This record gives sequence, structure tokens and C-alpha cells, in this order.
Amino acid sequence: MSRHLLVTGGAGFIGSSFVRHVLAHTDARVTVLDKLTYAGSTANLHGLPTDRVRLVVGDIADAALVEELVAPLTGEGDAIVHCAAESHNDNSLHDPSPFLHTNLVGTFTLLEAARRHGTRFHHISTDEVYGELDLDAPERFTETTPYNPSSPYSATKAGSDLLVRAWVRSFGVRATLSNCSNNYGPRQHVEKFIPRQITSLIDGVRPRLYGTGENVRDWIHAEDHSSAVLTILEKGRIGQTYLIGADGERSNLEVVQLLLQLMGREVDDFDHVPDRPGHDLRYAIDPTKLREELGWSPSCPDFAAGLAATVDWYRRHEAWWRPQKAAAEAKYARRGR
Ligand code: NAD
Ligand code: DAU
Repeated sequence: MSRHLLVTGGAGFIGSSFVRHVLAHTDARVTVLDKLTYAGSTANLHGLPTDRVRLVVGDIADAALVEELVAPLTGEGDAIVHCAAESHNDNSLHDPSPFLHTNLVGTFTLLEAARRHGTRFHHISTDEVYGELDLDAPERFTETTPYNPSSPYSATKAGSDLLVRAWVRSFGVRATLSNCSNNYGPRQHVEKFIPRQITSLIDGVRPRLYGTGENVRDWIHAEDHSSAVLTILEKGRIGQTYLIGADGERSNLEVVQLLLQLMGREVDDFDHVPDRPGHDLRYAIDPTKLREELGWSPSCPDFAAGLAATVDWYRRHEAWWRPQKAAAEAKYARRGR
């Protein structure tokens, strides 16, 4: 019998990328547990083999449903890969409540099921738990950087990480954790920075840069995030945290200007809009542990090439993003950004 993975949030951007990666690189069967919030879509699983992927629509904080799905995960190699989250900082600044429910209560509910059944658990988290770095500091985040989250989103992700660590130490849950930098690639929701600007440019609308645009993010292709998670699931040491990054630091201004170039526009054809409150200046990952201990390396390290392919994907998949675009922009308009 092939191994069986329960992937929470598997109908979202990174979850669906991970499911595709698992199908392509292993013989595992996957059950996706996803609430199909505004950020999840059955379209993200479209075309995948139905004998290997099953979608269960539901909430990770529903203890009875989680019990039903985790109880059968008793085979060698079976695992929960926990990807579901409320994931957008801007939303968390306007209504933190779903972030507490999903990121904290949801993670707790899954951990309790993993504890009852002795199920292997991998927790997918973010570099934002470490707060911000100075723009010109030589440091990058490592596994020992102290937690210092800034937003309700990153605070709830930090809390979820600490729950996982406590369940390892106090209850012996067989968990690993990963904290990854900013992802880009196909199927990312149009509320996020890169898809927002690409789809606006397709519509002839100027990109919108928060504040000065000097903030730095460390970009990694979602496919590389997925390959790193599978590597950690298969080779990572229980109780350990691994930082995932691909040396992709760029300022937001640089990203917008690269997009403008790729899409045939002048490099100053964008607008500055009011900054995000509490906006972290810089994130940067030192992935040495993951590379040296587990032998992982990214397969798409060229950000400009990955971005060009991503632009191409959004150009070819308007039917995928169009239904979300007007509502996402209306939300931004209400927030003055
Ligand atoms: P996303 O918002 O695109 O997808 C989240 C998915 O979770 C959606 O399919 C949604 O329907 C589902 N979901 C939300 N609440 C749920 C609930 N209560 N029960 C079941 N399903 C629920 O997010 P993403 O960008 O794909 O991020 C996925 C994970 O990766 C998150 O844990 C996030 O913190 C982490 N992460 C994201 C990035 C990034 O750059 N996007 C970087 C590092 C880590
Ligand atoms: O670092 C990992 C995190 O990256 C993940 O944990 C989050 O789930 C993910 O959403 C992302 O968080 P950010 O806040 O960095 O991503 P976002 O796409 O919202 O914004 C990226 C940068 O671009 C940030 O500095 C804010 C800026 N921005 C964003 C939007 C939507 C703009 O300048 N203009 C915009 O229109």
C-alpha cells in the first residue's frame, strides 16, 4: 500500500503546488482537507488523478472531521502536511479573527489528532515569525533567530510554530517545521504582490507600490518550496526546524521594475500608495542547514526567468484569476492601497 498524506490547505497556492510535487515525485496518495475559503479553489486541483487525490471540504478546527481523517494514517510514511492558514498580512490588519481560529485553533486541533494517533506531522510556516531585518544588515534569518512577529498574521503563525514545538517536547509528537521566505509562481491569489501587479498590468493598470518600495523580500519559486518540504518530510530530523530560501532578495521596487520591463512598459510606470501599517523592512533566509544537512537545492534559482514564466502563466490563465480580481481590488480601494 502506498503511503498516504493528509495535506491541509491543499487547494491553496502552496498546498496545491505541494500536492502536484508529491504526485510527480512519489507514489503517495493524498487527501486534501481544505475549507475552500476565498483563497482556496477546486480549480487548483483540476486535472489531478482522482485515484490518488481526494478533496475533503472542511475546517481544520473541526475536531471530529480531523479525527476521522487522521485515524487511518497509521502506515509507514503516512503523515500530515499542515499548509492551511489564513495567509495575507493585509487581511490580518483589518480582521484578525479568522487568523486566530485557523492558524492557532486549527493547528492545535491537528496536533491533538497527531498526538492521539502517533502520526508524523510537518508544519509549514513562514520567515515572518522572525520579524524584520535592517535593510543593509549583513545578517539573514537562521534557525536560532529569536521570534519577533509584527502582524496578527505573523503572530498567529509564530504561535502555531510554538504549539508544534511544545507538542514535540511535551507529548513526543513526531513533527518537523519549516519556515520559508516569499513564494511566487502559478496559482497565487491576486491579492498578493506579484500576481496583483501582473494582472493589473494585463488590464492596463499601473502597479501599486506600498510606501517607498525599498522593502526587501527573499523570493523563492513555490515548486522549490514544495521540493524542500518533501525533502524535510523524508529526511528531516524530528523536532527540528529548517529554513527554506533560495537567495532571492529583491526590493519591491526592483520587482515592479522587472515586471514592467517583462511586460513591455516604462520602468517608472507605477504608483506609490500609502504604506502598510507595521510593514516589515526586510526578510532574508540563510538556508545553509537545509542545504548541508539534507542536501536540498532549488531547481529554479533564476528569479528573472521564474518571474517571466509566471507572467506567462497569468497571461494564459485569465479564466483562473479573473473571477477574483475585481473583489480583490475593491478591498484594496477601501483600504486606500
Ligand atoms: P493561501 O491563502 O493561498 O492558501 C491557504 C489555503 O488554506 C486555502 O486553500 C484555504 O482555503 C485553506 N484554509 C484556510 N483556512 C482553513 C481552515 N480553517 N480549514 C481548512 N482549510 C483552510 O496560502 P499560501 O500562500 O498557499 O500559504 C500556505 C502556507 O504556507 C501557509 O501556512 C503560509 O503561512 C505558508 N507560507 C506562505 C508563504 C507565501 O509566500 N505565500 C511563504 C512561507 C510560508
Ligand atoms: O515571507 C513569507 C510571507 O510572504 C508569507 O508568510 C505570507 O503568507 C505571504 O503573503 C507573504 O507576505 P508579504 O506580506 O511579504 O506578501 P505580500 O504579497 O502581501 O507583499 C509582498 C511585499 O509587497 C510587501 O513588502 C508588501 C508589498 N506590496 C504588496 C502589495 C499587495 C506592495 O508594495 N504593493 C501591493 O500591492
